[in-house]
Amino acid sequence: MLTDAFSLNGKTALITGAGRGIGARIAPAFAEMGADVILVARTESDLQQVAGQVRDMGRSALVLSCDLTDENQLPELAAAIAAEVATLDILVNNAGAPGKGYGSLATVDRRRFDHTLSVNLSAPYSLIHHTLPLLQAAPGASIVNISSAMSWMVDNNMAAYAAAKAGLDQMTRVLAYELSPAIRVNGIAPGAIETPATAFITDDPQRLEETVRWIPQGRMGRPDDIALAALYLASAASAFVSGKILEVDGGMAALPGPAIQSRLPTT
Ligand SMILES: NC(=O)c1ccc[n+]([C@@H]2O[C@H](COP(=O)([O-])OP(=O)(O)OC[C@H]3O[C@@H](n4cnc5c(N)ncnc54)[C@H](OP(=O)(O)O)[C@@H]3O)[C@@H](O)[C@H]2O)c1
Repeated sequence: MLTDAFSLNGKTALITGAGRGIGARIAPAFAEMGADVILVARTESDLQQVAGQVRDMGRSALVLSCDLTDENQLPELAAAIAAEVATLDILVNNAGAPGKGYGSLATVDRRRFDHTLSVNLSAPYSLIHHTLPLLQAAPGASIVNISSAMSWMVDNNMAAYAAAKAGLDQMTRVLAYELSPAIRVNGIAPGAIETPATAFITDDPQRLEETVRWIPQGRMGRPDDIALAALYLASAASAFVSGKILEVDGGMAALPGPAIQSRLPTT
C-alpha cells in the first residue's frame, strides 16, 4: 500500500532531547511505526520513562545521557551508539532551547550567547559529523533538525536563539545538498507548542490568550503535531523531499507582518 511508506519497520532512530516535550513524543511515535530508538538528553530518569513506553510497544530503546553542549562528550556518544548498531537510519536533532542566551543585548554576554548557539546549532552539526559513518551505512537515511518559528520571526530577547535556529535552517539546506543523494536533511520550524518549556505561557491565561491570538488555527500546537511532521520527514513518505524547512505553526508563517499586528492587542 502507498501508505506503507510511513512505516519505520526495521529502522533505528536517534532522538536528542527525548526526555521531555517534543522529543518525548517523537520517540514513542516512531516506535509505534516500528523503529528501535536511541534516546539522548542529560536527565537519565526522564529518558528511562520514555524508554519504558517504547519497550511496552515491543521496540528496543537505548538510553544514553549526554550534555550535547560538551563537545568532549560527543565522540564518546557516537562510539557508544556504534557499539550497539551498525547503521543509523534517522537522526532527529531536537534538543534545544533559548536557554542561557535568552535576554536583552545588555544582559546576554558572549558566554551566554555561545551557550545557546552550542545547544541549538553546534551540537546538531557535531552530532551529524560524528554519526556520519553510521548514517552513510543506512540506505535512505534521514536527518530532521528541529528549528523554530524564531528562525524567521523577530521578537525581543531572542537574538541568540533566533540566530542559532536561522543558522540551523541554512545548515540544513547546505547539508541536504552536500549529503545528497545518500542522506536527506530537512527541518521542522514549530510555532508555539505545549511542552514543559512553554508552561510559562500555558499556565498564564492572559499570556496564553495573547499567544493564541496570532495563531490562525486558534490554539497552541501539541507535541503530536510535531511528531507527525517528523514521521513524514523521517520516513520514505518524504523520499523526494530534502533541504526543506516545514513550518508546523498553525498557519502563523502564512500571515504577513501587518496581519500579525492586527491580531495583537491595540493598547
Ligand atoms: N515548545 C515550543 O513551543 C517550541 C517552539 C519552537 C521550537 N521548539 C524547539 O523544539 C525542541 C524541543 O523543545 P521542547 O519545547 O520540547 O523543549 P523541552 O520540553 O525543554 O525539552 C527539551 C529536551 O532537550 C533536552 N536538552 C536540553 N538541553 C540539552 C543538552 N545540553 N544536552 C542534551 N539534552 C538537552 C532536555 O533534557 P535535559 O534537560 O534532561 O537535558 C529535554 O529532554 C527544541 O529544539 C526547541 O528549540 C520548541
